[in-house]
Amino acid sequence: MKFFIDTANLAQIKEANELGILDGVTTNPSLMAKEGIKGNDAIMNHYKTICEMVDGDISAEVISTEFSAIVEEGKKLAAIHPNIVVKVPMIKDGVKAIKWFTDNGIRTNCTLVFSAGQAILAAKAGATYLSPFIGRIDDSNWDGVELISQISQIYSIQGFKTQILAASIRNALHIVRCAEAGADVCTCPLDSILGLLKHPLTDIGLAKFLEDAKKTV
Ligand code: G3P
Repeated sequence: MKFFIDTANLAQIKEANELGILDGVTTNPSLMAKEGIKGNDAIMNHYKTICEMVDGDISAEVISTEFSAIVEEGKKLAAIHPNIVVKVPMIKDGVKAIKWFTDNGIRTNCTLVFSAGQAILAAKAGATYLSPFIGRIDDSNWDGVELISQISQIYSIQGFKTQILAASIRNALHIVRCAEAGADVCTCPLDSILGLLKHPLTDIGLAKFLEDAKKTV
């Protein structure tokens, strides 16, 4: 399973990248706004900076919702760097645009996915990645990881090549359960990635080893 970080925060991207386990970055308009990135030039420059920091796929989201506008915006985003993946919402014009991008050699990440039916449509259109929002499904009293299992089974039976990119990850357990459920990628906040490190027995065991090591010098 690949690890992406889900943020537009450069310090967090740097920290995750330095861990040596980072395969890419996903962003969205909310994450860009959170970092105070404002205006088209600033947004394009921010994506460029991220592409220069991380050697992996970088999702850049369109904010257009009409087919030809999505295509024009996506072409500009894709021109920033070869690693850019154009993130397109799961709406009717979005599906049409994903097909257009697929036919024209531009990779896509279909976002705001909440059902298996949407996953089938995105795969038919040739999306490179599919982003089911696990945490938001959990928030609505359903099991987000169950959706990952269902899509994984459908894609495997049908031979779809679209990679399942589990998004809206809220904690380390989500990452473990998504890996178990067949996600190809998890895009996570830094805290959730670092949460994978945690185990009290590791801390207790290390303290004891270090204490005993003093007897050996
Ligand atoms: O990748 C999508 C993700 O950023 C959404 O996360 O926490 O806003 O549901 P969240």
